[in-house]
Amino acid sequence: MPVKEIKVAELNAEDFIAEKTKEIASIVGDGLAVNALSGGVDSSAVTMLGHKALGKRLKTYFINNGLMRQNEPEKIVSLFKELGVQVEIVDAQEKFFNALKGITDPEEKREAITQTFYKEVFGRLVKESQAKHLLQGTILTDVDETVAGIKRQHNVFEQLGINPEEAFGYKIIEPLVQLRKDGVRVVAEALGLPRSVFNRMPFPGPALSARVIAEATPEKIKIVRLATAITEEELASISVFQCMAILHQDRVTGIRNGKREFGLQVEIRCWDSIDARVAKPTRLSYDILERLANRIVTEVPGVVSVTYNITAKPPSTMEAV
Ligand code: XMP
Repeated sequence: MPVKEIKVAELNAEDFIAEKTKEIASIVGDGLAVNALSGGVDSSAVTMLGHKALGKRLKTYFINNGLMRQNEPEKIVSLFKELGVQVEIVDAQEKFFNALKGITDPEEKREAITQTFYKEVFGRLVKESQAKHLLQGTILTDVDETVAGIKRQHNVFEQLGINPEEAFGYKIIEPLVQLRKDGVRVVAEALGLPRSVFNRMPFPGPALSARVIAEATPEKIKIVRLATAITEEELASISVFQCMAILHQDRVTGIRNGKREFGLQVEIRCWDSIDARVAKPTRLSYDILERLANRIVTEVPGVVSVTYNITAKPPSTMEAV
């Protein structure tokens, strides 16, 4: 059944929260549910909705897949502790890197993340906790692009004819699926989440593996993690929809200390957008770009070239993978 969109102009956050809380409580009944919190606005909003509906009967996990940004697991857990939500970190780094081994194709990479996340990691957590439901923050843009065959978002099943209960052994509840990112931000604020969360830049489910062209090895993830930290730091004071660093596969000839260095290339993308359906590259000043490039080639080992993407979505997509 097609999903009925709720546009931000017609969204009443209080009514939405009341309705979804009731819905979650009635679906889960007196059972248990689990959810994965990544700290992004979607999963944070779902966590708060779920806790409102189920209290302690919702168990929230932060899955450390080894692909997250610098210090992300600790930061998110302590932020939610302040909000009164207990979050358990699950160390699944080895599982994800094993699943990604040897994979170069973008869609295969996304599929490997999906299977590891839903089958291996959550399959076990659900069994252990005896929960029957997983709550997750799929939004309408995730569904649209997956159904259109543009990009298989890691969290879309039913619209592809996949029954999560048969495939993974539990049901999935998606309270945000009628909203786009701008609507989720309004709901997140109404749920009492701090600005640092409701205004947070989107970060994709496949995390930094979506920012490495070809195989996402632990070594390459380390490089792109550092480039990401520098990029986010340098662009922190500018209001953008999303910015990212991408590690390319091809090497180029550079010079360092008077010697040839056949080094790595990092591409920077920075987007202006409202709902991620269409986007334009931000017109960053040359001063900012130069400072960013200088820091990356100085601080990230092996990188000799930094480029800035100037192509809009479409025909680009926002993430490179
Ligand atoms: P694209 O690259 O499709 O990205 O133009 C649009 C927005 O979606 C995010 N994105 C994802 N989010 N799971 C997610 O939860 C995914 O598999 C995924 N892929 C892309 C991306 O960061 C951007 O904000």
